[in-house]
Amino acid sequence: MPSLARLIDTAMDRTVAPGYTRLGPAVRRRLSTWPADPPTDALAGRRALVTGASSGLGAATAEGLAALGAEVVLVVRDTDKGAAVVREIQGRRPLARLDVQRCDLADLDDVRRFVAADSADVDVLVHNAGAMPPTRTESPQGHEMTMALHVLSPVLMTELLGDRLRDGRVVMVTSGGMYTQRLREDDPEFVTGKYSGTTAYARSKRAQIELLPILQRRWQPRGVDVHATHPGWADTPGVAESLPTFRKITGPLLRDAAEGADTTVWISATQPPPAGGRLWHDRQPRPTQLLRRTRTGDAERDRMWSWVQELLGL
Ligand SMILES: NC(=O)c1ccc[n+]([C@@H]2O[C@H](COP(=O)([O-])OP(=O)(O)OC[C@H]3O[C@@H](n4cnc5c(N)ncnc54)[C@H](OP(=O)(O)O)[C@@H]3O)[C@@H](O)[C@H]2O)c1
Repeated sequence: MPSLARLIDTAMDRTVAPGYTRLGPAVRRRLSTWPADPPTDALAGRRALVTGASSGLGAATAEGLAALGAEVVLVVRDTDKGAAVVREIQGRRPLARLDVQRCDLADLDDVRRFVAADSADVDVLVHNAGAMPPTRTESPQGHEMTMALHVLSPVLMTELLGDRLRDGRVVMVTSGGMYTQRLREDDPEFVTGKYSGTTAYARSKRAQIELLPILQRRWQPRGVDVHATHPGWADTPGVAESLPTFRKITGPLLRDAAEGADTTVWISATQPPPAGGRLWHDRQPRPTQLLRRTRTGDAERDRMWSWVQELLGL
């Protein structure tokens, strides 16, 4: 029976649309391969940071972690929006322990300020903040925005937390869109060619995935495991703004934010801790490549990492 369940699960994944929509969790939850929910006190006494928690999947992740007993810091660039999310969650869950802290994740100096301003330990760090600017945009330090937001800032924050994150779990929220792009260590900031927001976004998410084994080797000696999760297709303000046509076509088939955040919450809390360095979707590890043309070698991965290291002064 588990092998039939695995076959159904994998077929839904490789045919993309059925697995990525709300059908994914609806079917998979009924399969014997679906892992159990963590107990409701799984994160009691733990502290979690969730970036981009003022909206969509980040807000749902914050709520999911708080429901498992964690004290959750919503790391947001707009604290009024963050406070509104806290009020909403506490309206449903009066016991949820939530705090809001400001950080512009595109600004590496602000990431440095943010980490220095606090001294408490962190057990779970969810790098969820994301964006898909339609035109080439640069961060305050002059980096292409999707690379700054999805790669440079998460790596920097995790590095700076150092021993405060000892034995913690780090989750990078990536995207199935990365399956369409190869690693572009030859042009990490999309300087050449005609810029496309969706391509830049998918390239930066590909970079997250390709760096995963390197980051796992680097952070594991501190007891830190790093995972990537992709949410499938979820109806969030980000999708409404950046992909209105896609949203119109897929409409009622999109997941809700909690369904999109499910694997991020699960992997932050499940025991025993899953091995790090892998991509997860709907509570199962998934391949990082589906197309021959996107394959990456160690040399390309290493060059990308050298670029990140040099920029961040690691
Ligand atoms: N929804 C999907 O189907 C889907 C699919 C694949 C991957 N993802 C990934 O899931 C993550 C969450 O996306 P979402 O769909 O929930 O989108 P969303 O509703 O637009 O949420 C994105 C969050 O990131 C924050 N953010 C953006 N730029 C920031 C910055 N410079 N500093 C701090 N915070 C910043 C936003 O803050 P503001 O509220 O201030 O704008 C918002 O809270 C992203 O990494 C996205 O790539 C989503």
